[in-house]
Amino acid sequence: MATHPLIAAFQQAGQGHVFAFYDQLDEARRAELLADAAEIDLAEVAALDRTLVQGNAAAGIDLSDLSPAPYHALPKNGGDAAAWAEAKRLGEEALRAGRVAAFVVAGGQGTRLGYDGPKGTYPVTPVRQKTLFQVFAEKIRAAGARYGRPIHWFIMTSHINHAATEAFFRAEGFFGLAEAQVHFFRQGRMPAVGLDGRILLEDKHRIAMSPDGHGGSLRALQRSGAVDLMAREGIEILSYFQVDNPLVRFIDPAFVGWHLLAGSEMSSKMVPKAYAGEKVGHFCAQRGKTVVIEYSDLPKARQEETDASGRLRFIAGSIAIHLLDREFIRRMATGADALPFHRADKKIPCLDATGAPVRPEKPNGVKFELFVFDALPFAKNPVVIETDRADDFSPVKNAEGVDSPKTCAEDQLRQFVRWANARGAAVPADATGLPPFAFEVSPLFGYDEDSFAASWSALAAPPVIAAGIVLE
Ligand code: UD1
Repeated sequence: MATHPLIAAFQQAGQGHVFAFYDQLDEARRAELLADAAEIDLAEVAALDRTLVQGNAAAGIDLSDLSPAPYHALPKNGGDAAAWAEAKRLGEEALRAGRVAAFVVAGGQGTRLGYDGPKGTYPVTPVRQKTLFQVFAEKIRAAGARYGRPIHWFIMTSHINHAATEAFFRAEGFFGLAEAQVHFFRQGRMPAVGLDGRILLEDKHRIAMSPDGHGGSLRALQRSGAVDLMAREGIEILSYFQVDNPLVRFIDPAFVGWHLLAGSEMSSKMVPKAYAGEKVGHFCAQRGKTVVIEYSDLPKARQEETDASGRLRFIAGSIAIHLLDREFIRRMATGADALPFHRADKKIPCLDATGAPVRPEKPNGVKFELFVFDALPFAKNPVVIETDRADDFSPVKNAEGVDSPKTCAEDQLRQFVRWANARGAAVPADATGLPPFAFEVSPLFGYDEDSFAASWSALAAPPVIAAGIVLE
């Protein structure tokens, strides 16, 4: 019998061991293995082996000629108040015209949180215990009503959680959104390789494959037809955010306005880093381009550099909130410019050459990931604007300690207190702004200070805010 062409190609590429157990498999399993193999670009894997695996991984990150990236400061920190007002006006106009859609990347595995299930199904609000997905859905509903145009929502999943994510939305009735407004698509996968560059098998009929990073969203948006759908619907800007952050203000007119004013293809929000070692990316300028250097890649000494006033020099922390132009996404997905892969050394359960399972105790292989912020240097006129951390960023990443469910719920409470007290509610709070009891503001009542103020003023009699109250 002639060798299957795919098997021949793997043999040719020195990856023939992937089919070492093929003869032992039944038809269905052979088909599964071939399907995994068909997803792999062997030339790409060979190039990554040369550069990232056998080559020096650190050499991939260019740290030369770095300086802090410029950004538009908030008016309270010296920014131009008139320009911010103009940006907000323009952004509102774009929202009313339906030119902006929401986009959450939710393909990650949530390993640090130790939660088994799509991370978006994790409960986060202080009273109702609404899930991350529900919070985002309600913000989208409320903003759609406010601007008089339903807002489309794109949700990127991965093979690990696609079915579970869709089932969850179905079971929850899409949280009151029209089904036609919500678009799921799956991101791509990359094979894991051993430290010798050989593709790892997870099982005799399965290649060890993992999601290709949130940067895989650009090609997945194009491949899935999402970019074409945007064009048909007149959507020009995608508002990108991560699934772990319920505070995120992804319908932010001023941000949209700054993006439009600059004619930017990709824009980002920054917060001043809270301390030198904070684990966020850094917006930097490099030979006329904007780049993000990850916390793990910027040497400690540089993270700790200060300016004459004692302020951190590389102050602009990335909170992974971006605006992406539709045609920029298309160009990045189909043109000559391509995002670079990053190497992550991991403990990868796999089979050895005899087919026996290996459960490694130290990293035994490499995964390859694309990062969306690597698109910035390819974008025309990128803009970075400052945002208030308290109103935009409190992610759930760890089970305990910083960026945990507890800190996130507390930050939500502080936000509710600020909004209510700005309207004269007199909610008691400690020196950090935290109230002595839990209450909640539904995004349907207010998803930012403006929408909260509008709903509050419309109340016949403002309620006394007490333990367990939910404004909705
Ligand atoms: C990320 C950023 C960091 C930023 C921080 C802010 C990277 C490498 N770093 O760190 O610059 O300061 O967030 O919170 O991104 N995802 C996918 N598919 C994948 C991988 C991830 O959709 O293949 C999604 C996750 O579901 C999540 C988001 O991307 O929504 C972030 O992933 P995560 O690995 O948690 O990033 P961090 O290391 O926390």
